[in-house]
Amino acid sequence: MSKVCIVFASMTGNTEEIKEILVNTISKYTEVDVYEMDMVGVDVIEDYDYVLIGSYTYDDGDIPFEAEDFYEELEGLDLSGKYASCFGSGDTLYVDFCNAAVLFEERVIEQGGVIIEPALKIELSPSYDDQKEKCVQFAQRVIEYMGGGQSKTAN
Ligand SMILES: Cc1cc2nc3c(=O)[nH]c(=O)nc-3n(C[C@H](O)[C@H](O)[C@H](O)COP(=O)(O)O)c2cc1C
Repeated sequence: MSKVCIVFASMTGNTEEIKEILVNTISKYTEVDVYEMDMVGVDVIEDYDYVLIGSYTYDDGDIPFEAEDFYEELEGLDLSGKYASCFGSGDTLYVDFCNAAVLFEERVIEQGGVIIEPALKIELSPSYDDQKEKCVQFAQRVIEYMGGGQSKTAN
């Protein structure tokens, strides 16, 4: 069974809500470990085959404070053999909508990781405008990539 973790940064809870939907969906297939980005170092990733990185976006399309160290440290990590996908909440009032997720995605590629799904970008809370389904579908595509589709109990 694939080992999956989610590492996320959320200030007002929107990215955390996305994380919850991803956990609820993926954990029907396999176990998911969750880490808050400012509480762990990047070496936590080394134990997992699949990594989902979530971050909201701050000033002018930037990586937020809570995610800065993790983002910088990633530059020293060899991600070859790792499968990853990024997600985050943002606000379309800003020019660089959800750019932190894109910056993480680019860094994963630079470090040799494979992006299995393009970044999931959610406008504020996933509970607005029925964006929950977008999160569920993203999680389902991740599960399919892992060779899944059946629930954990069915295996
Ligand atoms: C000062 C400030 C700057 C922001 N800059 C951006 C931005 O450049 N791009 C974007 O998509 N969202 C931007 N946002 C919006 C946040 O990413 C958005 O509120 C998000 O839902 C916060 O996620 P969280 O609840 O997980 O902390 C900004 C918010 C604040 C307060």
